[in-house]
Amino acid sequence: MLFPEITLAQIKELGRIKSSENLQTLIELYSVIEDIELLREIVSSIGRQTDNKIILDFISSNVYKCGFMDLVYQMYRTCLYKGKTCAEFKKLGEEIRKYFNNEVLNKMREYYDYRQDRVGKLERVIKYDKPILLCGNNIETLKKVDENSVQLIFTSPPYYNAKIYSNYHSYQDYLEDMFQSLMACQRVLEDGRFIIINVSPVISKRPGREFESIRYPIHFDFHNLLTHAGFYFVDEIQWIKPESSVKNRNGGYQQTHMPLSYKPNCINESIMVYRKSAPFLLDKNIAMYDKTFANDENFDSSNCWYIAPKSNKNHPAVFPKELCLRILKYYSFKGDVVLDPFAGSGTFGEVAIEMNRIPILCEQNKIYCDLINADNKYVQL
Ligand SMILES: C[S@@+](CC[C@H](N)C(=O)[O-])C[C@H]1O[C@@H](n2cnc3c(N)ncnc32)[C@H](O)[C@@H]1O
Repeated sequence: MLFPEITLAQIKELGRIKSSENLQTLIELYSVIEDIELLREIVSSIGRQTDNKIILDFISSNVYKCGFMDLVYQMYRTCLYKGKTCAEFKKLGEEIRKYFNNEVLNKMREYYDYRQDRVGKLERVIKYDKPILLCGNNIETLKKVDENSVQLIFTSPPYYNAKIYSNYHSYQDYLEDMFQSLMACQRVLEDGRFIIINVSPVISKRPGREFESIRYPIHFDFHNLLTHAGFYFVDEIQWIKPESSVKNRNGGYQQTHMPLSYKPNCINESIMVYRKSAPFLLDKNIAMYDKTFANDENFDSSNCWYIAPKSNKNHPAVFPKELCLRILKYYSFKGDVVLDPFAGSGTFGEVAIEMNRIPILCEQNKIYCDLINADNKYVQL
């Protein structure tokens, strides 16, 4: 090997000082170095050099055979930036993007175009200043809410036909309805803000002992629905409940200890954290608020949140207030408009008001709507 001891810092230095010798050295380095981190820096440093003809040759003869997408991204990055002033780089960049048809390259292009438009600081616009209750199917009622006017969505949709308030003809029907609701949510959520969905697998009741029950991994399907509706995955938080509070599924195994009859008690529910796609980093959303909006110094450091469930005589599936509190604390600011499109008894709205946010709640069941607005806190649109 010609340059066995070369370091990242030395490569950076070769990129920083523009000269034909440095460009040549970097190209030689590219052909002998095997470490991917070093190679990445070499490609990036080549892109910082100025002899466009040599750089163009280098990229077009290596990009399709370099073997690592990390290197492709660096070469494409050079094409994006040099494409500003050089049509050949622009053309090569587009060829690369089309050839790989890769989501990172597409996103790079989107971010780059957005930066070119030189959009400055985003303005904070609060469209609503009073709690709002929308009674009816959210697919319809959310049409009354302005687009891009909500800063956080948190909800727990029906878990297919698990509870008395839903009766879908089939799981497919259920998923299609959920997708329409998510599309309605996507329209009203501000670009780059969070939608957070609490769901977990459910099991259908067996029609008789001779039939097998079906277990539905709802959260897996929700991932696809969310992605298709224009949100991307950020985190999965596990809401962990005390084992004594959940249905015991250990019975069969405890009797026989036979393999295959094992069924663990399900003490977790998924809290799926997604972000509405935007061509800018989250920093831009945060920059709309000044430092006085920061939380106190206590926080939950892991993605396992231990919270006891709550029961309520008026609704069979209510959020514990503690769960709403944490979501509001970590994913919204004071004064934000926050939406629960499947509000049930309205727990999220209640905590949102206590935490100085403006809730918008959707609920299709008249009895629950009356419950939510028992003390007339909400304006009904
Ligand atoms: C899991 S519960 C929500 C419970 C809520 N998190 C709470 O703390 O009470 C789901 C609620 O969504 C409502 N719902 C179902 N489909 C709806 C739709 N398309 N539009 C509005 N509400 C709907 C149901 O009536 C039910 O009350």
